[in-house]
Amino acid sequence: MRSSFLLPLLLFSAISLCNFSKGQAGLQMHFYKKSCPNAEQIVQNIVWKHVAGNPELAAKFLRMFFHDCFVRGCDASILLDSTANNTAEKGAVPNGSLAGFEVIDEIKTAVEEACPEIVSCADMIALAARDSVSFQFKKPLWEVQTGRRDGSISRASEANVDIPSPFSNFTTLAKQFASKSLSVKDLVVLSGAHTIGIGHCNLFSNRLYNFTGKGDQDPSLNPTYAAFLKTKCTSLSDTTTTVPMDPGSSTSFDNHYYVNLRENKGLFTSDAQLLTNGRSANVVDKLVGSGGNFFNAFKNSIKRMGHADVLTGGAGEVRKNCRVVNS
Ligand code: HEM
Ligand SMILES: *[C@@H]1O[C@H](CO)[C@@H](O)[C@H](O)[C@H]1NC(C)=O
Ligand SMILES: *[C@@H]1O[C@H](CO)[C@@H](O)[C@H](O)[C@H]1NC(C)=O
Ligand SMILES: *[C@@H]1O[C@H](CO)[C@@H](O)[C@H](O)[C@H]1NC(C)=O
Ligand SMILES: *[C@@H]1O[C@H](CO)[C@@H](O)[C@H](O)[C@H]1NC(C)=O
Repeated sequence: MRSSFLLPLLLFSAISLCNFSKGQAGLQMHFYKKSCPNAEQIVQNIVWKHVAGNPELAAKFLRMFFHDCFVRGCDASILLDSTANNTAEKGAVPNGSLAGFEVIDEIKTAVEEACPEIVSCADMIALAARDSVSFQFKKPLWEVQTGRRDGSISRASEANVDIPSPFSNFTTLAKQFASKSLSVKDLVVLSGAHTIGIGHCNLFSNRLYNFTGKGDQDPSLNPTYAAFLKTKCTSLSDTTTTVPMDPGSSTSFDNHYYVNLRENKGLFTSDAQLLTNGRSANVVDKLVGSGGNFFNAFKNSIKRMGHADVLTGGAGEVRKNCRVVNS
């Protein structure tokens, strides 16, 4: 009688103990508080210094974080340079306009000077994304848990598959996010990042000139907006011109992405697709209504994104130079 009670109890304790130690090895607030107390401040200082003179940098870091997390998890694989034997993620097709790598180098140098081999490059990306977007508010917009470790593998071939395409439909996008434990809500909320930054013509001009191969326009694109875009992107072969994704406020981080989207002014097919699913469209409607809802939702979703397949504890390494694995 007694032992039949005891066994489940023991099992239960074993399971909770297991969860507990897993939690300890996971990410936490201020992971470097003792080991490198100034780390987060150093990152913020350098990022704010650069964003002050170059507001477009916020979009670069936010996208860099997304691309890092979607290939092999948030492990700074996006920062590794290609080698004689390996084309890294940086060399992949969807790398277009990735930037900010020199600023990460500057951060790494400063943090290594303060505390050698303590702070991972993966955490620097997560912090730089937060701090660059937050600069215009002069306060952190979301919490960043730290304790990520750096990976040693970076393959263009994986980025080509794992980075969502602007031409993808809703089903594909939802699947790709689900593979990172991100929900349809996360997909819609994180797409709100397109409230800042730019897009290249060739990534959406099929919607203007040849949507179904008959020289037609995407009927789901606002005709007035399409006419405007055609004045910027004058042919299907234009691969260099860029347009703001949120015209009029493309450096201001706000919920205006959803206002555009509701007017059928989402720039990419992947944006427009968020209106084609009932659940997803519902989330869009909630976020159109209130900027406060967006900020709150974004805090939670980007935190989840930042946990994607992270290396922690003894896994991975802390790179000395973010561009190369330690020898
Ligand atoms: C839902 C799937 C997504 C797709 C298909 C997608 C696709 C794209 C594309 C094609 C561009 C334009 C790149 C260029 O032309 O240079 C872009 C820009 C951008 N994306 Fe996304 N994206 C997605 C989700 C996200 C997420 C989750 C984030 C971050 C949380 C993000 C942040 C950004 C930012 C900030 C830019 C502007 C970059 C710049 O100004 O250089 N995107 N995205
Ligand atoms: C590339 O591969 C060759 C043969 O496998 C190896 O000898 C060489 O060290 C590698 N070079 C780099 C930069 O990894
Ligand atoms: C992106 O990849 C192309 C080749 O596909 C390469 O020419 C370009 O330099 C890469 N961009 C970056 C930022 O590495
Ligand atoms: C979405 O795209 C995928 C991949 O291109 C395709 O297999 C699928 O049939 C599409 N789904 C819908 C509903 O169009
Ligand atoms: C439009 O698409 C069709 C089918 O893919 C293609 O045959 C045609 O050449 C395209 N038109 C232009 C102007 O590129």
